[in-house]
Amino acid sequence: MSITLTWTGHATWLIDTGAGTLLIDPFFDECPTASMKAAAVSCDAILVTHGHFDHVADLVAIAKRTRARVYCNWEISQWLGAQGIDAVQPMNIGGRTAVPGGTAKMEIAHHSSSLPDGTYGGNPAGWVLDVGRVRVYIAGDTSLFSDMARIGFPHDGRRIDVAILPIGDLFTMGPDDSLEAIRMLAPRIVLPNHYGTWPPIAQDAEAWAARVREAKLAEPRVLTPGESITVSTVAP
Ligand code: NI
Ligand code: MN
Repeated sequence: MSITLTWTGHATWLIDTGAGTLLIDPFFDECPTASMKAAAVSCDAILVTHGHFDHVADLVAIAKRTRARVYCNWEISQWLGAQGIDAVQPMNIGGRTAVPGGTAKMEIAHHSSSLPDGTYGGNPAGWVLDVGRVRVYIAGDTSLFSDMARIGFPHDGRRIDVAILPIGDLFTMGPDDSLEAIRMLAPRIVLPNHYGTWPPIAQDAEAWAARVREAKLAEPRVLTPGESITVSTVAP
């Protein structure tokens, strides 16, 4: 079995699980590097890490048009409900739920989370997805934190196949801390995001990838917006 992850720019991903497409943190029309427009997106579910505009800017429009269920924290679910969106699965950190193609667990992230209109957005989060028999960890916007060792080596014994980490620095961890994160998470493959969208979070992703490779931490894959990667289950 395999899944296909497409980076559309910034922290936005389309994950084809083989049993439905998950959209992560919809930010298209105002994103300077986005590979597509919000109106062209099709998805079966939408997962939201936190309330900042660069993660929810196109959330309401896409949720209304596609009627895809939104998985998010309680506070963001209330904000969506006030805008007429009721296909929502509210949850909170530590919870796991079924999503098209598998399950999603909401994990901790160290960041903040106000919504674009100033509404309190609850706690920011990351996601651990078990989809198509592949485990994907989406850190969301976060600093390095020591629980990454627990996420990488959980009690169920399942290791991370793909980790998606921010490397932009300034608002999240930067390249140095991301290397420590990869050490703790020990994923097979690591994909960088949340960099290069605007000058303050510019990074040399190829230099970052060379450091990851040199330290033999994981297989880094630097995508360009619009590019996809297919990841297969490792045979048991
Ligand atoms: Ni943020
Ligand atoms: Mn952000």
